[in-house]
Amino acid sequence: MTQPLPRYAVITGASSGIGAAFARHGAALGVALGLVARRADRLQALAEELRAQHGTEVDVFRADLSKPGAGWALAERVMAAGRRPDMLVNNAGSSIARSFAATPYADQRAFIELNITTPVALARAFLPAMLEAGSGRIINISSLTALTCGGKGHTLYPGAKAFLLRFSQSLNAEVHESGVFVSAVLPGVVRTGFAAANGMAAQLGERPLPLAQEPMQIVREAWRRNARGDEVIVPGLAPKLAAALFQYMPQWLMRRISRQIAEKYHVAE
Ligand SMILES: NC(=O)c1ccc[n+]([C@@H]2O[C@H](COP(=O)([O-])OP(=O)(O)OC[C@H]3O[C@@H](n4cnc5c(N)ncnc54)[C@H](OP(=O)(O)O)[C@@H]3O)[C@@H](O)[C@H]2O)c1
Repeated sequence: MTQPLPRYAVITGASSGIGAAFARHGAALGVALGLVARRADRLQALAEELRAQHGTEVDVFRADLSKPGAGWALAERVMAAGRRPDMLVNNAGSSIARSFAATPYADQRAFIELNITTPVALARAFLPAMLEAGSGRIINISSLTALTCGGKGHTLYPGAKAFLLRFSQSLNAEVHESGVFVSAVLPGVVRTGFAAANGMAAQLGERPLPLAQEPMQIVREAWRRNARGDEVIVPGLAPKLAAALFQYMPQWLMRRISRQIAEKYHVAE
């Protein structure tokens, strides 16, 4: 079974990178959109572009999804606007590129709200209408990092992405038969504003990121495979090979590789 084209998709983190690519792809298919992020100017500019190019209906919801209760409050605003989303893309995310002990707890709590609590709240809020309709789509943007052993710096990131992976699988087990398809997407390295937004740009320098993908490559594969019910989606050939290797590698080797990779992205205090 393949899902019908959604009528209305809520996309978090639509002001740049993978989220903006989801918005462009959805608009090109004729899906009405609710775009969410903090940078309202960027969302408005994208909304105008998509209305002009495709005649799509686009709503802009400015929201800081790291604030306590922000996910549920956003869902209420979307529904108060008369929208009943049949697609949700939980894409907004961030990382903290410093050691755990040197990071204020308030920042860690905000990280958990944005990367874990908000996706759960939005899924919980929009799911009942999808179940009632007998169809719906939820895409959670996890990361290939979810399959690694973690490393210093970004202490919460692999755990948060592993949560999104397992949450997606459990929820899909619960609702797939009712016509709602839930997928976790595990990108490798993608050319977006992520490094700059999370303080890693200087660390990474001007070096081209090895095997980096364009956001639209991630989106096309994620959109197509979620529609046919794939639960775990690793977009692209090199990330697929890496994911397969990660699963069969002995833990000691996985730990060594995870820590070497993490070292590159860690920002020293
Ligand atoms: N880039 C990669 O290599 C890569 C790899 C694997 C997974 N991912 C995941 O892909 C997702 C998208 O990241 P990206 O690579 O596209 O990076 P990006 O270009 O930095 O996009 C991140 C998006 O999240 C939004 N966001 C961040 N904090 C927010 C907050 N507090 N409230 C609301 N929105 C917030 C940002 O919007 P505002 O700043 O306007 O709020 C932006 O639209 C993330 O979940 C990331 O973990 C990325």
